[in-house]
Amino acid sequence: MKDFLFGADYYPEHWPRSRWETDAVMMRDMGLDVVRLAEFSWFKLEPEEGKFDFAWLDEALEVLGRAGIKAILGTPTAAPPAWIIASDPSIEPVDSQGRVHHFGGRHHDCQSNQTYRKHIARFVTAFADHFGKNEHVIGWQIDNELGNSHDDFCHCPSCQARFREWLKGKYGTAEALNRAWGTEFWSQGYQDFSQVTSPMITATGGNPSRDLDWRRFCADLVLEFHEFQAKIIRPRSPGRFITHNLMGFCDKFRYDELAKMLEFVSQDQYPGGHFRPNPSADRSAEMAAELDFVRGLKDQPFSVMEQQSSITGWEILGRAPKPGQLALWSLQTVAHGADAVIWFRWRSCAMGMEQYWHGLLPHSGIPGRNFEELSAFVRQLKPLLRDMQGAMPEKQAAILFSYDQEWAARIQPHHPDLSYTGHLMSYYRALHARNIPVDFTFPDRDWSAYKLLIAPLWFLADPGENEKFRNYVKAGGTLVLTCRSGIKHPSNLCITDLPLPAGLTDLAGIEVDEYDCLRDCENTVLWEGHAYPCLKWCDIMHTVSAEVRGTWGGEFYAGTPAITRNAYGSGAVWYVGTEMGDDLALAVIQALEKECGLSSAGTADKGVEITVRRKEKSSWLFVLNHTDESRSVDIPKGWHLLQGTEGPVLPPFGFRIYSKEK
Ligand code: GAL
Repeated sequence: MKDFLFGADYYPEHWPRSRWETDAVMMRDMGLDVVRLAEFSWFKLEPEEGKFDFAWLDEALEVLGRAGIKAILGTPTAAPPAWIIASDPSIEPVDSQGRVHHFGGRHHDCQSNQTYRKHIARFVTAFADHFGKNEHVIGWQIDNELGNSHDDFCHCPSCQARFREWLKGKYGTAEALNRAWGTEFWSQGYQDFSQVTSPMITATGGNPSRDLDWRRFCADLVLEFHEFQAKIIRPRSPGRFITHNLMGFCDKFRYDELAKMLEFVSQDQYPGGHFRPNPSADRSAEMAAELDFVRGLKDQPFSVMEQQSSITGWEILGRAPKPGQLALWSLQTVAHGADAVIWFRWRSCAMGMEQYWHGLLPHSGIPGRNFEELSAFVRQLKPLLRDMQGAMPEKQAAILFSYDQEWAARIQPHHPDLSYTGHLMSYYRALHARNIPVDFTFPDRDWSAYKLLIAPLWFLADPGENEKFRNYVKAGGTLVLTCRSGIKHPSNLCITDLPLPAGLTDLAGIEVDEYDCLRDCENTVLWEGHAYPCLKWCDIMHTVSAEVRGTWGGEFYAGTPAITRNAYGSGAVWYVGTEMGDDLALAVIQALEKECGLSSAGTADKGVEITVRRKEKSSWLFVLNHTDESRSVDIPKGWHLLQGTEGPVLPPFGFRIYSKEK
């Protein structure tokens, strides 16, 4: 990442050749270092099978290179041209209802289809042979937002066959698969793997174990699809990185596994939320969480491959970013660990689906308000960003993220509004409101640096993971388990030989006897003399060795434990038998903050975010006002102001950056 700090996603093929020099010079003058190119331009690069036209891209690289702009090349495999599809329509993906998703948008491809793989092998080999050692090319992005647009996965015959192979590799025999999936139920037993199908539309219901294995298989397929291309590129492009543009909490495959195959990860960051019912709502905590999540994938700084640069939308648009907001959003990524920011896109496009997904420049190409705001931002930030490359937040609290848990919760959410990320956000929001740095960590990582570890909705209990929890707590860690923990085997069958939370009972010091799903109602938790709303779920439990910290305020189980704490080894395990409303979450997090000795980066009014990044002896403190009103801030002593205006009040969408030497 040392090669670039700022950039733009650029599509020279959308513009006349006569404009390229102007663009390159404007980019240089803005202070940009890099562009991402070509990730959707297969037809332009190979208009006929085996007849490559790389000359225009050579020329674009040259023009940009003369202005000192480097390039990241995308492989265009998210948009196979019509001639490929016409040659073999079986490449088109099939959804769970059996409907073919046809050519005309993008991602009209099945990632397991062997004909498609042949086309990819031919194209990517020629592409990497030609551009791999180009002096202006510094790295690669394979495909685009893998997992996006394959929302319902692909259930075509090729994927079905791959699924069966995968199952055979996992279970060996049909009997083992029948046991793991509990196929006695509704007579779902298989005599042979050839009878197994993917979870397509059924007459009624499905099988949660099959559903979970299907998600695992699809996730493995995406990784293998990526590796298939990476293996072609790596030897042909020595010394260049491979990264990928991720989408925060997107759950289509295991980002933590992909991260192991990349030099660094990248994030696509669109805070505008044009696709939300309430696009004006403040999403700063959610955006912060996604950035912390992406940083956690490799536990190192990341880059932003697509950062919102203007008003966005496809058919329907979101709000126009207010003055200061685009710079603030860009700085938020840096405040959470981005070492590089690439804006999507250089210039608003005149054609196709994304005509209204605006860029740094409007359609006219004449710089306007957004361009000026972000140009000033680049000038301010460039020297600072260079110094702080590699700096990370302090390790204090972590949320343990597991795709298997996410998928299990998605398959059976219990309550219509219960979701894994929604649930973890109740903890994140409280930590974020307290300006306590949050990491995301994963089951196979070392958790020992964290004083507090929150494991949300830990449905599936793996004996190895239970032991890892034990060791973490014995050594002095504080673990928070939440409702519906330890209820299932990794196969997604219910645990029957122990009271819940089964293998986690000794840790939590409670037993769950019953539960209540809060449909169309709320309950309360009595916590330190106040009744706080809680949502969606109540575990009805008794203590074995834990102390009761909160009790249910209502229903037939009123007065029984709702939140407990169990001393264990040198640490403690908290069990929170519900989804806490924001006020309760804040109160509980403040108790945990004291117990674990967590330290906040500073205090400020609601809507102001404070984060710190550290490197060797230097630290940087970021203060971001996400509201359209002035806000008070109280900065701890000893910080030296680098950007912004000193004083007790931060203007709307204003920010400050401070630094300090230890
Ligand atoms: C991203 C994608 C880009 C562009 C952008 C705007 O998800 O990677 O290619 O489509 O959204 O829609």
